[in-house]
Amino acid sequence: MSKVAIVYWSGTGNTEAMAELVAEGVNGANGEADLIQVSDFSVSDLAAYDAFAFGCPAMGSEELESDEFEPVWDELEPELPGRKVVLFGSYDWADGEWMDLWRERAEAAGITVADTVIAKDYPDGPAAEACRALGAMLA
Ligand SMILES: Cc1cc2nc3c(=O)[nH]c(=O)nc-3n(C[C@H](O)[C@H](O)[C@H](O)COP(=O)(O)O)c2cc1C
Repeated sequence: MSKVAIVYWSGTGNTEAMAELVAEGVNGANGEADLIQVSDFSVSDLAAYDAFAFGCPAMGSEELESDEFEPVWDELEPELPGRKVVLFGSYDWADGEWMDLWRERAEAAGITVADTVIAKDYPDGPAAEACRALGAMLA
């Protein structure tokens, strides 16, 4: 059984809803999911988990949220190569470029990103199903 950390930041709840769907997917596939706000997670927590889903919406101009999420990501990034990692998040007015940039950045740091899921605003329909599938894959 895999223990999965779902670590996220969400301003208006859309990425949080995605995180909850990822957790549903983990638990439905007999894994164990912990939902964790990014400000409550640090490098010392990595060892407790088998796999990681990181969630952050598009903020700034196609950027990660800079006050809380990105500082933690900066610290985690060098420790994530060799671990099972997926990325997810919500966006609105653009086309998901922030996720492409995030994935490129992670891969340049040596992280194997197993998959990414993006949702325009609230994750309904196919996006919700993609979140559950992401969780099931990590479990
Ligand atoms: C300050 C700010 C910056 C944003 N920048 C972008 C952006 O660059 N591209 C985009 O597609 N959406 C952008 N958005 C829209 C959010 O990504 C979108 O509302 C998302 O659903 C928020 O997710 P959350 O509910 O998890 O906070 C921005 C929203 C805010 C408040």
